[in-house]
Amino acid sequence: MHRSLSCLRLWRQLLWTAALLIFSSCDMHHEMSSSPAVIATEAWTGPFEAKSADDLDAVDNVVSVELEAKAARVELATGQLVNMWTYNGAVPGPTIVANVGDLVRVKIKNSLPESTTIHWHGLRVPAAMDGAPAVQREIQPGESYTYEFVVPDSGTFWYHPHVRSDVQIERGLYGAIIVHDANDPKVDGDHLIVLDDVLLDDAWQIAEGDTMMEAMNGREGNLLLVNGHSRPILNVPAGSVQRLRFINTANARFFRLTVPNHPLVQIGADGALFEKALEKNEVYVVPGQRADVLIRLPTDEGASLGFQTRPYARGHGMNGGKTHDLYELRTTAPLATSTPFPSLSSNVADLPQADVTRQLKLEEQMMSGAMHGGHGGGGPTFSFNGQTYPKVTPLEARLGSVEQWSLINETMMDHPFHLHGFRFQVVQGAGIEPARRAWRDTINVPADSTVQIRMRLDEHPGTWMFHCHILEHAERGMMGELLVSE
Ligand code: C2O
Ligand code: CU
Repeated sequence: MHRSLSCLRLWRQLLWTAALLIFSSCDMHHEMSSSPAVIATEAWTGPFEAKSADDLDAVDNVVSVELEAKAARVELATGQLVNMWTYNGAVPGPTIVANVGDLVRVKIKNSLPESTTIHWHGLRVPAAMDGAPAVQREIQPGESYTYEFVVPDSGTFWYHPHVRSDVQIERGLYGAIIVHDANDPKVDGDHLIVLDDVLLDDAWQIAEGDTMMEAMNGREGNLLLVNGHSRPILNVPAGSVQRLRFINTANARFFRLTVPNHPLVQIGADGALFEKALEKNEVYVVPGQRADVLIRLPTDEGASLGFQTRPYARGHGMNGGKTHDLYELRTTAPLATSTPFPSLSSNVADLPQADVTRQLKLEEQMMSGAMHGGHGGGGPTFSFNGQTYPKVTPLEARLGSVEQWSLINETMMDHPFHLHGFRFQVVQGAGIEPARRAWRDTINVPADSTVQIRMRLDEHPGTWMFHCHILEHAERGMMGELLVSE
């Protein structure tokens, strides 16, 4: 049994390697990277921050926003207009800002040539408002739909379509939701930093694609974007303490953030703060994830801190290429008073022993038949426990129970696992993310390893999705459903 299994595995590895050699681009011998070479650009000197959404009503505790999903030309790098799909003409879309307990109402008009939905990544909203294919009819071109929910947690979240997400998010459909509460650490400034990459063709337009390489590995881009621009600059007072909220909206690129010779203090990830701040030289943000970081700026005016992303080998020769510049922090005149570095006082309660344990095997199939989502043709598919979405039987669970899932990655690549509707704690594994008490909604499951997560299925009955956040993998079947009933 064992012997034949490992033999099968070896066989699969050989097949993948052969396929990679056939489909990979010719720069494979350089540094053994299959990632596309990144375009060098000049620094963007326009505004750094994404625009906030207007709250269209005057009622306290209610945030009413109108979004229109539509095509627009967006200046991603100085002088380069790219045809994108946007919310309200911008990439990222407007940032929705609320306080814990607010009612958020978002009316979305679909002016795209195809159907869409909005999913509220990381927000614990009722299932009917989740925007996933399991719970909502797609919003057709020309139609509008209103989402309405209370935001229960403070932190950094994001919104994006859950229809052809590999195409729609790549083309620019994403935005942030920031939820504040009274316990937010006191800092001199708080900035949203949305990380993305897009793959452009020679005419500086989003590459038509869906190549075999992309299907297997997820699309990595050749232009790195920070709040929708290449290499922007953020001016902040010398000596000040700044909070940086990173979101990785890329289809497949893993960001490994670093500032040469300057420590970063990570205080949270996904939608919540850690119990303890962690001083780090590198902060990983895999697709779908968020990272909350504090940084103290040098005390001299005119200093510059360059944020970079370093290569991370996520399997199949994909490592993001070289070290790339992302953006720069520059210091302006210091503030009159200096702010103490905030200490965290958040409590992450331990979950009790699980009532139910499950095993989820993350698998890839080299070549198979038709794919869903209009991709057509053959190519690789992906699955949990042998089931390729949408041909899945939902996992059945009881409302209120505590579950522990073993995420068993049997493939040669990392897969960032995301669960809708609930937050979980990592109880074991996750290699690059050492296990610690924290609330997560997206966690990397490194190649050929197992990660154990535990969650309480509190409050929200209904059907919930879980999937790999490499969007090509999700759209090619690595997506499942959890049915939580009372
Ligand atoms: Cu951002 Cu179903 O995910
Ligand atoms: Cu994956």
